[in-house]
Amino acid sequence: MFVAGGIGRGEAIAAYLEMGASGVQLGTRFVCAAESIAHPHFKKAFLRASARDAVASVQIDPRLPVIPVRALKNAGTEEFTAKQREVANLLDEGGIDMVEAQLQIEHYWAGALRRAVIDGDVENGSLMAGQSVGMVTSEEPVGEIIASLVQQAEAALHARG
Ligand SMILES: Cc1cc2nc3c(=O)[nH]c(=O)nc-3n(C[C@H](O)[C@H](O)[C@H](O)COP(=O)(O)O)c2cc1C
Repeated sequence: MFVAGGIGRGEAIAAYLEMGASGVQLGTRFVCAAESIAHPHFKKAFLRASARDAVASVQIDPRLPVIPVRALKNAGTEEFTAKQREVANLLDEGGIDMVEAQLQIEHYWAGALRRAVIDGDVENGSLMAGQSVGMVTSEEPVGEIIASLVQQAEAALHARG
């Protein structure tokens, strides 16, 4: 069993291994690696963000198919709420049917991750991030990130004997 989600330090890795995990998977912690091709604006948003900024997508109407994804708040997430309200109103008025409503919601974020990560549009694109984003404080090589995670995990395991 591999554990994933919100892991940013070696102490957490050690704790999951002690609980019986075979390993862990980390995403956010590597976004700002020197080797990462993420746009400089995307990396800057990660470096500035704290854990609280990574919020799960909000669904305002149970009829709309909103998939829960954690992302940093920006203009796009605000507009998505407005879009849901608009689509829900159209549904109430009978202006559109359920299939059309679902399509409009699903299409809203189409290509949004690419817009943020590759094009650097951090206002309207999707800044998907785990809560571990608060532990991303500098751009450093992958080798150094892994070395410090391993060192933190080892120290935690040794401290417990
Ligand atoms: C670059 C990037 C892309 C992501 N893409 C998705 C996605 O397509 N769908 C999804 O549900 N979550 C996506 N996530 C968010 C993850 O679901 C998750 O919340 C997060 O990465 C948790 O693990 P971590 O803290 O190790 O990053 C993405 C996260 C990042 C950093």
